[in-house]
Amino acid sequence: MSQLRTRDVVESDLPAILSIRNRSFGPLGIGGEDWWRRVSAETLGGRMLAVVDESDRVLGAGRIRPFEQAWGGRHLRMGGLAGVYVEPSARGAGVATTLTRALVTRMGELGDVVSCLFPTTATLYRRSGYEIGGTQTRTTYAGHLLRDVGSAGAGRPPAQAHPWCARRSPTMPS
Ligand SMILES: CC(C)(COP(=O)(O)OP(=O)(O)OC[C@H]1O[C@@H](n2cnc3c(N)ncnc32)[C@H](O)[C@@H]1OP(=O)(O)O)[C@@H](O)C(=O)NCCC(=O)NCCS
Repeated sequence: MSQLRTRDVVESDLPAILSIRNRSFGPLGIGGEDWWRRVSAETLGGRMLAVVDESDRVLGAGRIRPFEQAWGGRHLRMGGLAGVYVEPSARGAGVATTLTRALVTRMGELGDVVSCLFPTTATLYRRSGYEIGGTQTRTTYAGHLLRDVGSAGAGRPPAQAHPWCARRSPTMPS
């Protein structure tokens, strides 16, 4: 692999980064263009870094989302690592490792004293200092499976949900 360098992402890099993103996770779905514009605007100008080769070609990129976390009643700035993608032909050569270390350094410079991420691969983030600190479990049932519970032989029929349970919590992210 050629000489790797990290630098801030600028607006003109966004099409190349979106192309890497789409080749990693598939094309943007409905509303995806708006989402991409929003997360780019949130992190351009210091919170989005790229790894480039000697000809300044973008090989990978990642973002630091500006979050907060409450510790003992104090709100601390927390960098949310997101959007880590590496050009498929450049994988396996340390691009993501270079990137995550640069992102950690940048978070220190920005005053983000805590950081979080959802790891697709633990090894990559462990080597930059992260460890699994907890899990967030989300279980989704198809409605017809719940309806079928009542007719599944000896099983007890499902209890009727209290109307309050069916309401959306105002703090639930949309
Ligand atoms: C995951 C990804 C970012 C890794 O990029 P990379 O530049 O190849 O990573 P590195 O070369 O720095 O490898 C770092 C370590 O991560 C681990 N790793 C890399 N790719 C991996 C994969 N696909 N599955 C499991 N572990 C992987 C390896 O342990 C590797 O270390 P090793 O080669 O010494 O064993 C890249 O494969 C990618 O863009 N994938 C698609 C998008 C994605 O999943 N992003 C992560 C979001 S959390």
